[in-house]
Amino acid sequence: MRHAVSSAPTVLLLSTTLDLGYLVEPMRDALPGADVRLWPDADPDSVEMAICWRPPAGVLAGMPRLRLIHSIGAGIDHITADPDLPDRPLCRMIDGAMAAGIREYVLWSVLYFHRDFDVAARQRAQRLWRARAPVPAGEWTVGVLGLGAIGLGVAAALRDLGYRVRGWSRSPKQVDGVECFAGPEGLVPCIEACDVVVSILPLTADTRRLFDREVLSRLRPGAAFVNVGRGEQLVLDDLLGLLDEGHLRGAVLDVFEVEPLPPDHAAWAHPAVVVTPHMASRTDRRDIARQAAENYRRAVGGQPLIGRVERERGY
Ligand code: GLV
Repeated sequence: MRHAVSSAPTVLLLSTTLDLGYLVEPMRDALPGADVRLWPDADPDSVEMAICWRPPAGVLAGMPRLRLIHSIGAGIDHITADPDLPDRPLCRMIDGAMAAGIREYVLWSVLYFHRDFDVAARQRAQRLWRARAPVPAGEWTVGVLGLGAIGLGVAAALRDLGYRVRGWSRSPKQVDGVECFAGPEGLVPCIEACDVVVSILPLTADTRRLFDREVLSRLRPGAAFVNVGRGEQLVLDDLLGLLDEGHLRGAVLDVFEVEPLPPDHAAWAHPAVVVTPHMASRTDRRDIARQAAENYRRAVGGQPLIGRVERERGY
């Protein structure tokens, strides 16, 4: 049965880990007349759009009028983790400000290793005054794993700073000034010549636990690893092991399998690891509201949606 399109739809904000109250007002402004509610305060029969971060499993399946499921972030893995997720259009944020945030975070991380800030930080603890001559950026190779809209911007910024940049993606890409590799067989050839590897990959069945001991040990001795993708892609104990053995130089990690990272986790205290609290970027609440409202209007009008995810592909 088809339900009539509502001009004053019920929009439900759902998260098991975040208080999405900050989105209520922007959402009301962006979709005038909408009845914007915070889960669980809504009649499931009335909800037409769900805006989510780690929504409770099974709940969306009980919403017969749901026409659109929207992520508040670039990733949707926290939504597709629901085994009962209904088959409705699913969208992620496409957001220039978020791309800029990740670009800045990655540039900092690459410079942190390339310009020996990690070495200086350790020396500082010993009040040790020792410097080595900087290596020109053109002699440093950076690998960018994931060449979607965000990864492309990162690769271009690194290239423009003068680094030698390698990129890896699921399907073949051509990027000016970037040496591109693709597919499972392209991963090791891409990373093995890099001084630092940056992962910006989406979490899919193919990328879960991708960076385990076997893959990480193919990085060259003294290479560093940066993760702004998802924590589930990295076998953290394997990384810590390779750091302890001195094979790898260091890591900057913004995402973890369990967030917040538990206070007693070894990564916090590891001298070669920088732990940051999933802070590389955050989408502005007005941008989330604007895109979700626009997508609702498009869904009603039967137009192509911004950031629509191919469920099979996983991003
Ligand atoms: C953040 O991790 C996002 O998915 O936007």
